[in-house]
Amino acid sequence: MFAVQYDGFGGPEVLHLGTTDAPHPRAGQIRIRLQAAGVSPVDVGLRSGRTPMSAQLPLPHIPGVDAAGIVDEIGDDVDDVTVGDHVFGIVELARLGGASAQFAVLQLWAHKPSTMPWAQAGAAGTSIETATRALDLLDLRPGLTLLVDGAAGGVGSIAIQLAAARGINVIGTARADNHDLLRQLGATPLTYGPDLTNRLDALGVTRVDRALDVAGAGSLPELLHLTGDPTAVVTLADFTAPTHGVRLSMGQLAGQPDGRHGLPAAAELFTEGRFRVPIDAAFPLEKAADAHQAAERGSRRGKIVLTVDDVRES
Ligand SMILES: NC(=O)c1ccc[n+]([C@@H]2O[C@H](COP(=O)([O-])OP(=O)(O)OC[C@H]3O[C@@H](n4cnc5c(N)ncnc54)[C@H](OP(=O)(O)O)[C@@H]3O)[C@@H](O)[C@H]2O)c1
Repeated sequence: MFAVQYDGFGGPEVLHLGTTDAPHPRAGQIRIRLQAAGVSPVDVGLRSGRTPMSAQLPLPHIPGVDAAGIVDEIGDDVDDVTVGDHVFGIVELARLGGASAQFAVLQLWAHKPSTMPWAQAGAAGTSIETATRALDLLDLRPGLTLLVDGAAGGVGSIAIQLAAARGINVIGTARADNHDLLRQLGATPLTYGPDLTNRLDALGVTRVDRALDVAGAGSLPELLHLTGDPTAVVTLADFTAPTHGVRLSMGQLAGQPDGRHGLPAAAELFTEGRFRVPIDAAFPLEKAADAHQAAERGSRRGKIVLTVDDVRES
């Protein structure tokens, strides 16, 4: 099969399109013929060699943890799909990759709504799962106000919609260029950076009940001040969390221990017109290096995604 791969760590230029043996699903897994694959910060970090997890990767490595495609092989003990179904999901996370290839094996999936574009489906998996996990930790109830710091990126843009669907009043931070996007997704926009409290005052917001830090940009002390309670704050990206008594939500991307996961619920919201996966930029699979370069830019309007030929022609 064809696959984006790298043989050594480094900049986006280490990525190349090559060939390798196709994988096969084990029990509890399915194989898809790829239509689209997401590019996330974790893929960029692993490829650079800068994250400790890079050391675990056998080389050559196929990057990408999110994918969507057409089911073409089914492992034992799987009874919710048939060959030919359109699905989206997440690869086996212990492998930390495998999505950017002609065939990819999924560990966790949901059926893709027929109206959901392949690019949105391919980019969605871990961002939905991460956002769902973080929101579940925050004990949200309709009517509460949630502040999401870093709301325009891959995870934030999904978290604000999933929170709004739970009846939460959502305030999201982003640079000014992204405020229109946040409004479209159901959040009140706010500029990020120091002095959130004063800017919230100017908006007339008197109470923040919960806060989700997606950006890891050093806002935890202010989020604690705003909520007045460390258990009301969760971060996905600030490793100083324990020193503030705040929870850092990591890993377990493949659903909850009891097998529940957020992909089917997000698919249902999409069908109801209450959810979408904002796509910042889409690249053909053979331009994976350009996609990684784009993903290394700090600013974002949703997800970066790779697509294969038949998607671009449809
Ligand atoms: N813990 C986990 O399980 C888990 C899972 C997935 C991701 N993550 C981590 O979560 C972080 C976000 O992931 P992502 O996929 O959403 O990244 P992303 O798509 O690259 O988005 C990052 C966002 O951060 C915003 N930002 C930049 N500087 C900021 C600041 N000073 N204050 C507030 N926001 C700022 C940017 O907003 P503008 O575009 O408006 O400038 C951008 O939209 C990454 O560090 C990633 O590694 C953790």
